[in-house]
Amino acid sequence: MSRLIVISNRVSVPKAAGAAGAQGGLAVALNSALREHRGIWFGWSGQETAEFTGHLDMQRNDDVTTATIDLEPQDIDEYYNGYANRTLWPLFHYRIDLTEYDRNFGEGYERVNERFADSVLPLIEPEDLVWVHDYHLLPLGSILRGKGVKNRMGLFLHTPWPPTRLLASLPFHERLVASMLEYDVIGFQTTEWLESFMHYVQKEMGLKVNLDNSIDYKGRRVVARAFPIGIDYAEFTQAAASDEAGAAYKALKSSVRGRKILIGVDRLDYSKGLGERFEGFARFLSDHPDQAGDAVLLQIAPPSRGDVASYQQIREDLERKTGHINGAHADVNFVPIRYVNRGYPRAQLAGYYRAADIGLVTPLRDGMNLVAKEYVAAQDPEDPGVLILSQFAGAALQLKDALLVNPHSSEHLAETIKRALDMPLEERKRRHSKLLASVREEDVIHWREQFVRALAGKDRNRDAGKEG
Ligand code: ADP
Ligand code: F6P
Repeated sequence: MSRLIVISNRVSVPKAAGAAGAQGGLAVALNSALREHRGIWFGWSGQETAEFTGHLDMQRNDDVTTATIDLEPQDIDEYYNGYANRTLWPLFHYRIDLTEYDRNFGEGYERVNERFADSVLPLIEPEDLVWVHDYHLLPLGSILRGKGVKNRMGLFLHTPWPPTRLLASLPFHERLVASMLEYDVIGFQTTEWLESFMHYVQKEMGLKVNLDNSIDYKGRRVVARAFPIGIDYAEFTQAAASDEAGAAYKALKSSVRGRKILIGVDRLDYSKGLGERFEGFARFLSDHPDQAGDAVLLQIAPPSRGDVASYQQIREDLERKTGHINGAHADVNFVPIRYVNRGYPRAQLAGYYRAADIGLVTPLRDGMNLVAKEYVAAQDPEDPGVLILSQFAGAALQLKDALLVNPHSSEHLAETIKRALDMPLEERKRRHSKLLASVREEDVIHWREQFVRALAGKDRNRDAGKEG
């Protein structure tokens, strides 16, 4: 079995038991995947250094070997806060209004990708499989090729891939996408993003896509496929069955004194549709005054990317909105929205999910969304809650038995909340058992095995483009 070199912007080492877990789908999924595989996880430490030295900090934690580098403040500003999170992230989430095009960001992005390549190069042995993750590192494979790396290399994109006409607004978009074609495998979360990518290479680059979704480019063959990511089902259900989860469940239930609980768990990101979700809940409260005092929304939203202005803005907007809604609907012994800006250990989170009658997962655009899958996995199959899921989350293509909503419509959200609260036990069980089967079968191990198999070239082109 070949060794895996996993490369991503952020390397999140497992925390001590009881500490708040890694937030973000990529960190959570890779921790699980790497525990199973002999290999190294390379990336940025999250720390800054006055001057870049390329020094590798190697550590072994809980069966995962990590190798990290520190970055200079200018790198962090231009690469992470800049090109990654002020240019590509909004653009890839269809927020062209928030997308900033700044030459310095582009230069910083290329410089840091070079630095990543130089630092990881000595770790790569001839038989290793190299697996690069996400929008921070799209050109890394091509830079490594330029430095003589002949290994099989793959890229998995955790975000959506934008429509061609949106991507065309990015200066030098052709160069960026051409650099991606140096990978052997390019993986997307869903067929929707895959198709969008294929549309781009055909329309903007004039390339021919073969029937098996491979592309012949400069004498090499690149395979593009959908590999929907899942959760670590075994680990998560174990966490959900723990005493810690049980205590969290009881504490939350007793604090709402018989009221129904709706839960949202998201990084504080404008792509997650939190403002629209709050509006939808407020509309439900106004439309159904008879039920208004019976339901509480617990929104857990740890701050994310706080140095970026659009994230500071969404944080302020949500604080204001929560204040307005609670001001209008609260009573002396009741507050409708509990808004919490912190992370929780996974077992505690699982207990909260299980206590919730409704999981509200309503991003405006999301590559996949693992919270939806965690909510399903944490439910009691004999008395499960209802998942309300945005039709614009990648997960909606798999979790078809959720109540799918248009997250932009407060009317639709309010109606769907009402429908979920009134749903009979039999229907809840029927929907949940189908959702659970999908979450259990298409878990993170399945995802990893599928990707690594394609990366190793073992099933080249098999099942090209299918979900799951
Ligand atoms: P994204 O990758 O955009 O953040 P996902 O829904 O795919 O979105 O993944 C989010 C992950 O982060 C989930 O595993 C979720 O449990 C975790 N997470 C989010 N908020 C918290 C929190 N407050 N405490 C602990 N884990 C969290
Ligand atoms: O899953 C999308 C993603 O952007 C990951 O790449 C990232 O690790 C996670 O969300 C959290 O974001 P950040 O690393 O910027 O805190």
